[in-house]
Amino acid sequence: MVELILGRVLEFVAEPFGPEPGEAARLHGGVAIADGRILALGSAADLGRDFAGARVTDLGDALILPGFVDAHMHYPQTGMIASWGKRLIDWLETYTFPEEMRFGDADYARAQADLTLDLALAHGTTTLSSFCTIHPESVDAFFGAAEARGMAVVAGKTCMDRNAPEGLRDNARRAYDESAALLGRWHGAGRARYAITPRFSPTSSPEQLEALGALWAEHPDCLMQTHLSEQVDEVDWVRGLYPSARDYLDTYEAHGLLGSRGLYGHAIHLEPRERDRLAEVGGGLVHCPTSNTFIGSGLFEMGARLAEGQRVGLATDTGGGSSFSMLRVMAAAYEIGQLTGRPLHPAELLWLATAGSARILHAEEEIGTMAVGSAADLVALDLGSTPAIAQRSARADDIWEAVFPTIMMGDDRAVAGTWVAGRRVAG
Ligand code: GUN
Ligand code: ZN
Repeated sequence: MVELILGRVLEFVAEPFGPEPGEAARLHGGVAIADGRILALGSAADLGRDFAGARVTDLGDALILPGFVDAHMHYPQTGMIASWGKRLIDWLETYTFPEEMRFGDADYARAQADLTLDLALAHGTTTLSSFCTIHPESVDAFFGAAEARGMAVVAGKTCMDRNAPEGLRDNARRAYDESAALLGRWHGAGRARYAITPRFSPTSSPEQLEALGALWAEHPDCLMQTHLSEQVDEVDWVRGLYPSARDYLDTYEAHGLLGSRGLYGHAIHLEPRERDRLAEVGGGLVHCPTSNTFIGSGLFEMGARLAEGQRVGLATDTGGGSSFSMLRVMAAAYEIGQLTGRPLHPAELLWLATAGSARILHAEEEIGTMAVGSAADLVALDLGSTPAIAQRSARADDIWEAVFPTIMMGDDRAVAGTWVAGRRVAG
């Protein structure tokens, strides 16, 4: 059964980082979907003729895009999002670790996974790469909840064997064994993919990083996700913990944890050698701007990173990030771009939140674009979702001016619909 979704369908035909970002995209009048995939893009008239008898969902002038891809978040932190007044290390100790302790309870983990995924879908996010907790139950809960919704997700057991409380620590052997078992169960099961997940170097011994590096070498098609150079205090701490490492990235590199399928969250305070190596291997830098302002981490220099040819995606980093909305993330990326001399064009922001994040997850064949054959994971945005937004977009001369107020001021009220594999799941 073919369905036609009519609106203003935004398709990127190139990366929008040249002198004319707006020229990288094309608008269509609708998208035809069938069997969970994108079948065709075209004008409403052409699609109506080519797919006569198809079910039609007419969304008026809503903007239809690939569903947002949140390339770094922590579903176990949903319950403590927006916790006041701490910076990274004491924020982890005060708010994060006590909450993560609860995820050995499979029922609690599943309830939080269900809650988080429903919030994500209500905000137009169709794919997430989530950290879980030390508990294998937390990983089963997240993948199970995603499977029930048909979502393409990435996740992994968060490994820690030091500088974390009793009850949230494993060891090198258990990290390897439990990650290996979970990976065997979930990687490639339906739309699930596994990311080997050392939390960050301060909470892993060199032996644990080594064990996880070995596991990655045995399963090179898995992803690997971690944190890198988020706060200056953290970088200093890593220097003390790994005295022979050349820099923070080297703590991963020396243990087999640097690669193109690596996802390096934050990556703000980088040394020249780290930047060179990341660009050389094509590792994914995950910009988490709402988190970086909320926890006070620093300013990611998007202009410099793009000029170096880094692969960059966007993410909420909830609950360090203070919103489930990738619109809020794009707004914060714009504001940080302003503070660092590189105001991002709406086309660049939208590309980063969809294709850019999909690319660093090595999933761009499946998600993040409107390419024919891609999964029909879609979001439709109402570009006049509040009076304040509507009055501004009504004056717009082009699509970019029309969408920018929603990027800057929008939230889940702007989501007119979310589709996962062709099924409408929100809006
Ligand atoms: N670094 C290590 N763990 C975390 C976490 O849970 N959130 C953030 N923002 N940074 C981290
Ligand atoms: Zn994080």
